[in-house]
Amino acid sequence: MNIAVIGAQWGDEGKGKIVDFLAKDADLIVRYSGGANAGHTIVHGDKVYKLHLIPSGVIYPGKKVILGTGMVIDPDALFQELETISAQGVQWEGRVFISGRAHLVLPGYKQIDIDIDKKRKKPIGTTGRGIGVTFSQKAMRDGMRLVDIYNPERMALLNEDDRNYLAGFAERLKPMMVDVTSYILHHRPTKLLLEGAQGVLLDLDLGTYPYVSSGYSAAAGAALGAGIGPRDIDGILGVFKAYSTRVGNGPFPTEFVQDRDGDLEHLVREIGHEYGVTTGRPRRCGYLDLVALKYACASNGIDGLVLTHLDVYDSLTSVKACVAYEIDGSETTDFPMGLPELDKAKPVLQEFVGWNSPITGITHFDDLPQAAKDYIAFIEDYTNTAITIVSVGSDRKQTILRREPWTKY
Ligand code: GDP
Ligand code: IMO
Ligand code: MG
Repeated sequence: MNIAVIGAQWGDEGKGKIVDFLAKDADLIVRYSGGANAGHTIVHGDKVYKLHLIPSGVIYPGKKVILGTGMVIDPDALFQELETISAQGVQWEGRVFISGRAHLVLPGYKQIDIDIDKKRKKPIGTTGRGIGVTFSQKAMRDGMRLVDIYNPERMALLNEDDRNYLAGFAERLKPMMVDVTSYILHHRPTKLLLEGAQGVLLDLDLGTYPYVSSGYSAAAGAALGAGIGPRDIDGILGVFKAYSTRVGNGPFPTEFVQDRDGDLEHLVREIGHEYGVTTGRPRRCGYLDLVALKYACASNGIDGLVLTHLDVYDSLTSVKACVAYEIDGSETTDFPMGLPELDKAKPVLQEFVGWNSPITGITHFDDLPQAAKDYIAFIEDYTNTAITIVSVGSDRKQTILRREPWTKY
């Protein structure tokens, strides 16, 4: 049984928390996309783990994790992160593997990423981790894969500094390198968890181009990134927040505006701690965008939705969500392709009764206030997709399971 966990918005939906929750029953976790641009947070009591490159499943003792082919690996960042989790008591030796086909971020790429973005008339607001540069080199067929470190012909193509840099990691990386397809074939995991990074709207093909990242964070990327066939994925879970956030620039039709929404942005940012894990930037916040969520469900074949951050709305007496866009006087429920349409789109907001009570201690769906259940039912109806998990806080324990995740959808 192979399950993929993808972000259904603009990233930071709480994928790390959900992967950690599901990792309990998984026997292999493969992260399929992104690089050190991601920031995944896992909270167990007073322990907080912040991961960028390493799959979130690593926090579970004994679980084996693979950094998949769809990822771009910054060796420096990787070993720094391994050191950090070691210091936090995570024994990772012998259970962190990397696809030999994954591409490598070379030392100069981060600065090039920053310089290119600065020179753009309209910067994307990249994380400056060299992601776009590495993916460009890959598409140009000039990239360096992990396996290429052990190929003198490929190494000879590099300048001396880059060659020495990679050679310095060769010995430590060698025991971690795997052919991810063969690994899965030989180990035959009964429960394989495919962990996404970023989100559908940041996917290179499906997202709000050019304000996207450079990899395939959508469900289709899970097959390539893990070296399995698309039909081998038995279930796709799409994680989304009770509202929306976005870091960096680009269209955001439901973004809160002071005149219309008062202090809602401030409330959501402070209660939801909406600051980037990787860059510390305050995240832009807005209403739940059901037009975008329906598009994410349709373009990814999402089998089950995972609703997170529902608790952030606990103090509200009324909750709104966007059910259509008004563009040039007409309403649509289709997510536009063009930037001008996305920029012009005004959210048509539907109001719901707020539950106005704390839900962070609730562990059974039936115990949620009726108003919260009504909000959930509306989202399910609108997207025609069941909400199978509800998260009411950052801790692993604050998770309401409505349907056994490891079953055929
Ligand atoms: P990811 O990139 O999708 O893994 O998400 P991030 O870790 O970047 O951001 C999600 C943030 O929300 C983290 O600080 C999590 O600890 C936190 N979080 C996750 N789920 C919930 C939830 O249901 N409620 C609240 N209040 N916080 C949550
Ligand atoms: P997780 O996995 C939120 C955004 C950046 C920028 C754009 C391009 O934590 O959900 P890049 O450095 O990738 O070239 O930047 O993509 N971005 C993310 N936003 N969460 C992420 O990952 C992101 N990874 C990239 O802010 O707007
Ligand atoms: Mg994040």
